[in-house]
Amino acid sequence: MNKSMYQIETLQKIINDEIARRAEVLSARNPAELYAPVNYSLGMGGKRLRPVLLLMSFNLFSEEIENALPAALAVEVFHNFTLLHDDIMDKAEMRRNKPTVHEKFSENSAILSGDAMAFLSYQYLMECRSKQLFDVAGLFTDTALAVCEGQQYDMDFENRLNVTEEEYLEMIRLKTAVLLGCSLKAGALLAHATDEMASQLYDFGINLGLAFQLQDDLLDTFGNQQSFGKKIGGDILANKKTYLLVKALEKAAENHKTELLRWLNIMDFNAEEKISSVTEIYRQLGIKELTEEKIDACFSQAANILHDLPVNDLRKEQLSNLSKNMLGRRF
Ligand code: IPE
Ligand code: IPE
Ligand code: MG
Ligand code: MG
Ligand code: MG
Repeated sequence: MNKSMYQIETLQKIINDEIARRAEVLSARNPAELYAPVNYSLGMGGKRLRPVLLLMSFNLFSEEIENALPAALAVEVFHNFTLLHDDIMDKAEMRRNKPTVHEKFSENSAILSGDAMAFLSYQYLMECRSKQLFDVAGLFTDTALAVCEGQQYDMDFENRLNVTEEEYLEMIRLKTAVLLGCSLKAGALLAHATDEMASQLYDFGINLGLAFQLQDDLLDTFGNQQSFGKKIGGDILANKKTYLLVKALEKAAENHKTELLRWLNIMDFNAEEKISSVTEIYRQLGIKELTEEKIDACFSQAANILHDLPVNDLRKEQLSNLSKNMLGRRF
């Protein structure tokens, strides 16, 4: 095993150690009420997928991964910022098996500490001593705007019944996949990879991100609450146009369609009853299997792009293993 080829767990530890180091600095700053939710959010776990992707992508071309660490930290802090605001928007009470920031502190705290995290992420990014920083900061900014666009579509779609599969896929490309693509591309750029390889890694990230968000939708209904860390059924309660609901509305015959529409329109309902009734409709329509097929298709696309990337196979194996891990035991 090449010593300078980093494994997933090692990279996760490098990132967690760096976050702990930064948390110490932040906890000494005032006002404490602004930084406590930041440290709570960054310290409550999480898989650290985006920074690991960034460092692995960097490590395809270079050994000196500490040069990419500020950028890795930046994408993780940015990701956590989006979660603070997303959890307010989605009325989510639980994340990583703990109360969400707006539940534990307050909604205003989650807004303001979230804002602070967005700027902190830029501050960390600016620590990169690299000629590529200008390009990476541009990519980062484009990505941040795209995430906002995706989140707006996600909200708009809550009030629509005719969302197509194509519209759904564009929405999740924006809200989720671009940040994975950005992480991989930033790693490649910082390591002076060619533009073509950086762009291949971006496309790998987009397809992986689509599969990842599709799986997140699937687990939100069919997952195990303890391992998922979020309340099962949250998407159903919020009328989220997940892949599951888009397909169910597309496939349902008259009786199922009437019942689904009733659950989508009703204002006064018992939460558990709505979750179990909609889940049962999904079961009868074979929606779980349909979603799994789509996840497989996106994952295969990603795998093919990675396969075609002209770099050392052993190093690519790290990325390939991570992407399989991300999508659980299904591959
Ligand atoms: C959650 O992302 C938001 C989605 C894009 C589905 P993760 O599942 O990567 O969240 P953490 O950071 O590991 O908790
Ligand atoms: C996540 O979408 C997208 C962003 C946070 C930008 P979700 O709303 O599905 O993510 P979870 O399920 O709350 O983690
Ligand atoms: Mg959410
Ligand atoms: Mg959301
Ligand atoms: Mg979700």
